[in-house]
Amino acid sequence: GADVEVDISAIEPGQLIRVMWRSKPVWIVRRTPEILAELGNHEDQLRDPNSENEQQPAFAKNQYRSLKEEYLILVGICTHLGCSPQHMKDGAFEEYVEGVPDGFFCPCHGSKFDMAGRVFENVPAPLNLVVPPYQFVDENTVIIG
Ligand code: FES
Repeated sequence: GADVEVDISAIEPGQLIRVMWRSKPVWIVRRTPEILAELGNHEDQLRDPNSENEQQPAFAKNQYRSLKEEYLILVGICTHLGCSPQHMKDGAFEEYVEGVPDGFFCPCHGSKFDMAGRVFENVPAPLNLVVPPYQFVDENTVIIG
């Protein structure tokens, strides 16, 4: 079928890998404890921190937006006009949001998302990045779709 099976065992802490699912780029990010801890620190700057305004899996309606906190899985397409946001890590995102070291920046019109794909206020993108359907079949294998 159109589902994609991914071996996540080789993803390093902090690393993002890309796979294709139904012609869309999907990101899998292995979040570090530092990245996870940061998610609670900037929620007052987010448009919809608990993903209440969108169609999302129930497990995505919280600050982690993932089945396992460590692994963030997102459709890598900006919710504004479909460009591909860039992963800015290890402090590089502070250029866009002061005090937030990691995130995603869309170069087309400047939308900004955190490390759960949650959109910041005052940017053109209306919604958080989309969490696709997925499941873990064992510790090292995830199926997207
Ligand atoms: Fe990303 Fe416009 S397409 S900000």
